[in-house]
Amino acid sequence: MVAPSLPAELKASLEASLEGMSRNDVAARADKISKNYREGGGSNVIASEADALAYALARMPATYAAVAASLNALTGARPDFAPATLLDIGAGPGTASFAAAEAFPSLTAFSLLDANSPLRALALQLARGQPRLAQSHYAQGDAFKLAAAAEPADLVIASYMIGELTATERTRLATLIWARTRDTLVIVEPGTPAGYARIIALRTQLIAAGAHVAAPCPHDGRCPLVPPDWCHFSQRLPRSRAHQAMKGADVPFEDERFAYVVLTRALPALRRSRVLAQPAVGKAEIAAKLCTPEGLLFTKVPRRDKTGYAAARHWRWGDAVRMGR
Ligand SMILES: C[S@@+](CC[C@H](N)C(=O)[O-])C[C@H]1O[C@@H](n2cnc3c(N)ncnc32)[C@H](O)[C@@H]1O
Repeated sequence: MVAPSLPAELKASLEASLEGMSRNDVAARADKISKNYREGGGSNVIASEADALAYALARMPATYAAVAASLNALTGARPDFAPATLLDIGAGPGTASFAAAEAFPSLTAFSLLDANSPLRALALQLARGQPRLAQSHYAQGDAFKLAAAAEPADLVIASYMIGELTATERTRLATLIWARTRDTLVIVEPGTPAGYARIIALRTQLIAAGAHVAAPCPHDGRCPLVPPDWCHFSQRLPRSRAHQAMKGADVPFEDERFAYVVLTRALPALRRSRVLAQPAVGKAEIAAKLCTPEGLLFTKVPRRDKTGYAAARHWRWGDAVRMGR
C-alpha cells in the first residue's frame, strides 16, 4: 500500500524550493491558479517557476494522494502486477510518476510528457532527489503528438489531465493512450460529477475497444448509479504547516475527492464489490452501499451475523470487499 502523503524526500525538496520566496506571493499565485481551474481555464496560467511551485505546493499533495489511492486499488485487484515501464500523460510536476515509483518497485523506466515548461522544470528538479526517477525521460510538448510517438508502456497514467481537454480531444486522446498501454491504464480525475462523467465516457469508449475494468467497478457493465448520484471516493491526507498557512486552514489534514478507473487488457481474475460510501455502523446493523458484479446493492449486515458484522466493521469508503464476509 502506498501512503497518501508525499514521500519525505519529495516533501522536503518541495518545501526547500520555497526558501527565499514570499509566502504571500506563493499563496496569491496558488489562489489565481485555483480560480482559473474553477473557471475551467486549466493549467494555462502556470507560466513561471514561481507559478509551478505555487501549483505544486497547493495541489500536488492532494493529487498525489488520489493517485496513490487509485494505485492501491489497482494493486488490491492485481497483486501480481509488476510493471517495468510507465508513461505519465500530462505529468505536470511528476505527481503520478512519484506515486507509481512508490507503488511499484518493479518500475525501471519512467516516461513523462506535458506541454507546460515550468512544471516540467520543477518535476526534473524534484526528481533529482529520487534516485529511481533521476533518469526519467520527460518530453515537453503536445500530448497528442508525444503520446503518438511514445514507446508503449506497461502502465499508463493520466492524472487530473483529461479535464483540460474538450470532449472530442478526450476521445482522441483515450484511443491514443490505450494504444500505448501494454497492460494497464489508470485515469484519475477530481471527484466531481463532471470528473466522474469524463471517467465514465472514457470507460465506455475503451470497454468498447476491448478494455476490462480492474477498479473501482467489479464489472465491465454500465455504471448502475443514477444521477444526481455519482461514483467518487475520498482520500484523507496530512496538511503540512506550509500548506495549512497557504490555505489559511484550521485542520492539519484535507480530504481529496476523486474519481478514477483502472482499465486492463486482460480480464482481471479478482473482482470484489466496492464500497461506494462510508458505511453507517449502528448497534443493530451496518448499512453499506456497494457496487457488486450484479449491480448496486444497499446491504444491511445484522449484528447477529457475527462473522459478517465483524468483517463489515472494517469496511471503508473505497474498499474492495467480499460481499458479506
Ligand atoms: C492539473 S495538471 C495535473 C498534473 C499531474 N498529472 C498531477 O496529477 O498533479 C494537468 C496537466 O496536464 C497538462 N496538459 C493538459 N493538456 C495537455 C496537452 N494537450 N498536452 C500536454 N499536456 C497537457 C498541463 O500542462 C498540466 O501540467
